[in-house]
Amino acid sequence: MAIQRTFSIIKPDATKRNLTGAIVAKFEAAGLRVVASKRIQMTLAQAQTFYGVHKERPFFGELCEFMISEPIVVQVLEGEDAIAKNREVMGATNPAEAAEGTIRKEFALSIGENSVHGSDGEDTAAEEIAYFFSGLELVG
Ligand code: CMP
Repeated sequence: MAIQRTFSIIKPDATKRNLTGAIVAKFEAAGLRVVASKRIQMTLAQAQTFYGVHKERPFFGELCEFMISEPIVVQVLEGEDAIAKNREVMGATNPAEAAEGTIRKEFALSIGENSVHGSDGEDTAAEEIAYFFSGLELVG
């Protein structure tokens, strides 16, 4: 498998509890390199666009309100098989189902307040990176 880039968000529940460094340490321990990172607070419109694929879901409103409730840290992670590796390190969406040692098992509070987001495939990784980062911010 080639070197890939994937997109990651450290969500409001985690930034609020000062867990940014602890979460980045998990990525780095798994062999993922942070090649771009910034702390931002999304507007409601930005969150609704980012999560547009979920707009028909019953939790869409709650999800978007949560994602703008505090700052988030958006990152680009790079490494061998980075998309799958990031999803492995994050653990299952629902922390009750997440494996031992994963970020969501250790830190997530609920299926909604689940500490991290990660791209689910090559196309979404490219789209999500481009949504938050310009070419000039991606130094490699
Ligand atoms: P994420 O990887 O950011 O992608 C969509 C998010 O929707 C997901 O993580 C969860 O945080 C959230 N989500 C999924 N299912 C539910 C649910 N049943 N209730 C609330 N939020 C959910």
